[in-house]
Amino acid sequence: MFYAVIMAGGAGERFWPLSRRDRPKQFLSLVGERTMLQLTFDRLAGLVPPENVLVVTGVNYIETVRRQLPEIPPENIVAEPCGRDTAAAVGLGALHVLRKDPRGVMAVLPADHYIVHVRRFQSVLQAAVSLAAGGQWLVTMGITPTRPDTGYGYICQGELLEYHEGIPVYRVERFTEKPGPEKARQFLASGRYLWNSGMFIWRADLIYRLIEEHLPALAAGLAEIGRAMDRSSCQEVLSRVYPDLPGVSIDYGIMEKAPNVLVLPGDFGWDDVGSWPALERCRETEENGNVIEARGVFLETRNSIIHAPGRLVATLGVENLVVVDDGECLLVCRKDRAQELKRLTAALKEAG
Ligand code: GDD
Ligand code: MG
Repeated sequence: MFYAVIMAGGAGERFWPLSRRDRPKQFLSLVGERTMLQLTFDRLAGLVPPENVLVVTGVNYIETVRRQLPEIPPENIVAEPCGRDTAAAVGLGALHVLRKDPRGVMAVLPADHYIVHVRRFQSVLQAAVSLAAGGQWLVTMGITPTRPDTGYGYICQGELLEYHEGIPVYRVERFTEKPGPEKARQFLASGRYLWNSGMFIWRADLIYRLIEEHLPALAAGLAEIGRAMDRSSCQEVLSRVYPDLPGVSIDYGIMEKAPNVLVLPGDFGWDDVGSWPALERCRETEENGNVIEARGVFLETRNSIIHAPGRLVATLGVENLVVVDDGECLLVCRKDRAQELKRLTAALKEAG
């Protein structure tokens, strides 16, 4: 038995306007009716009982998580007083797992991914858990890269160690978080690199030891929180200690430094749904290449993303557009510039 620790505290803003007002990507229904968080939970069905699923998220999102995942016990929703990036969130998750089982394995799962072949994903996850159970390895899932994306971590694949439960297991030679464009191109061309999926499987005691070794300031804060966990002062300690923890991602803080990392190729159809155009990879397109979630008429409209549930939309003679309407705000933007949405949201904030 293992624990799933779902990371759901990110502030993803690239799905504006849907992601405004405290609704980052993980809480949105982007690829179907269920939200990204709900899909992350659904993928564990039959593998992890709800009482073993923890969600680490910002205190402002607690209600949203409760509403979206009524299946999990409320005490499994772990609240961070503020975001201190993923190393702190993983550390906090590890404290909770250790309390339940000192030798417990935790699968750290981002709440913002799309996976096509769930059965296959479950097989790889199960193999990863059984590899991690010995307490020696950090295990991650690698994705064959298709473009020199600088938004991902890259894994240099080492020797094939074995086939575990039918899944190939490779040593990781090097982990490079978010390289620059030149390096990313080299990595892709070499054919030796995989993208890091951001899913990690390890024993909670192992990751805790590695945090002590590589991020001592974080470890000291976590130790204080850990000591307070059974006391009534826990919330007060958390609110005092957490904001001062170093804000570093688990990728930079641990993965780039740890020597004992394994990677299992995750050939289950993975996408991190990074921005509106990614919906073309995750949803069915109609005959003109559009992804449409709206009622309406779309004459001579091609290769566009139109997301306006509940709206009547009419377009004529346009292509390569993103049109999103959430009932209050409307976005119209060229598809090839959807990566720049942060500029737009920053400008909007400035404009008040
Ligand atoms: N609880 C909590 N607190 N969760 C957080 C926090 C935080 O402070 N910051 C981020 N998260 C959550 C996000 O909601 C997401 O589910 C997950 O942790 C990963 O964080 P992202 O901010 O989305 O990371 P990334 O996409 O830039 O990079 C990571 O994922 C890539 C794959 O999508 C890295 O692991 C990369 O190496 C990887 O390639
Ligand atoms: Mg992400």
